[in-house]
Amino acid sequence: MIKKNTERNKTIRLTEKEENSYVARSIKLSAHNKGVNLENKVIWQDTFRALNYIPDNFADLIVVDPPYNLTKLFGKNIFRQTDAETYKKWLDKWLAKLGRILKSEGSIYICSDWQSSLLIPEVACKYFIVQNRISWEREKGRAASDNWKNCLEDIWFFTKSNKYTFNMEAVKVQKKVVAPYRDVNGKPKDWADENGKKIRYTAPSNIWTDITVPFWSMAENTDHPTQKPEKLIAKLILASSNIGDMVFDPFLGSGTTAVTAKKLQRRYLGIERERKYVALALKRLETADYDKTIQGYENGIFKSRNYKLTS
Ligand SMILES: C[S@@+](CC[C@H](N)C(=O)[O-])C[C@H]1O[C@@H](n2cnc3c(N)ncnc32)[C@H](O)[C@@H]1O
Repeated sequence: MIKKNTERNKTIRLTEKEENSYVARSIKLSAHNKGVNLENKVIWQDTFRALNYIPDNFADLIVVDPPYNLTKLFGKNIFRQTDAETYKKWLDKWLAKLGRILKSEGSIYICSDWQSSLLIPEVACKYFIVQNRISWEREKGRAASDNWKNCLEDIWFFTKSNKYTFNMEAVKVQKKVVAPYRDVNGKPKDWADENGKKIRYTAPSNIWTDITVPFWSMAENTDHPTQKPEKLIAKLILASSNIGDMVFDPFLGSGTTAVTAKKLQRRYLGIERERKYVALALKRLETADYDKTIQGYENGIFKSRNYKLTS
């Protein structure tokens, strides 16, 4: 029997009028408005210019999802793939500025594909201490006849010092128990019975296989070509910041870092140079005033991938 697809396309889109009205809520930084309140704002500007006006020791957490070293169209601008040395120089141009902006006990995460990933620590270790590399599995990838299908992305985890926030309890992973051992009194050993299911909560590893990249039937989906899932960013924010902390993203895109920070009661600041993405970010932030849901994260628990589709 063919199952009828009744799901609605939920992709967030804007009319020209809406785009104009959202963009009007963004700010631009210059020598003339030094000291302007940067809390919970979206900056519509080239990041290399705007970063000069962000104060020292501003951010508790920085999440960076930069253009990877691939040719890609972002709105009206193309980022062009280049040789490794030129890409490293480009990384250095903004990483040097982030070193000044991150607080002494702060953390910074940098997203990459496997090729750009080879270059990131070479530059970032000039300013930060490397703590880990997370690899997460993208569900989809383009098949190749002469190579392995590319379904992996990395997120590098750096800190400014060896004193930093890490809330392990907030990002524990729910697992089904295969071997439900009991102690001599018959009590479950390290697991619990939840609604008839045997469940254990374990420390999260640096391999994540529970992530779904936004697609048309997800409420967070936009037309941004490389939008990150809120669930992915939620893990970084929950682990490496506390309620009320400042979360900063210098390549904001459609706003995922800011939106997730807002939903998790953090303060935020983001920079993006494409008008359309600035507007999308501001629309998503407005929706987050009343809708705090993060797909795949419920009641403090990260659910398995596509759990709604499979349960
Ligand atoms: C990989 S995307 C970020 C996607 C974002 N994490 C999201 O979930 O939507 C990188 C973004 O950086 C923006 N960008 C590239 N160069 C920039 C620059 N010099 N200044 C500001 N934004 C820039 C691009 O327009 C693009 O939206």
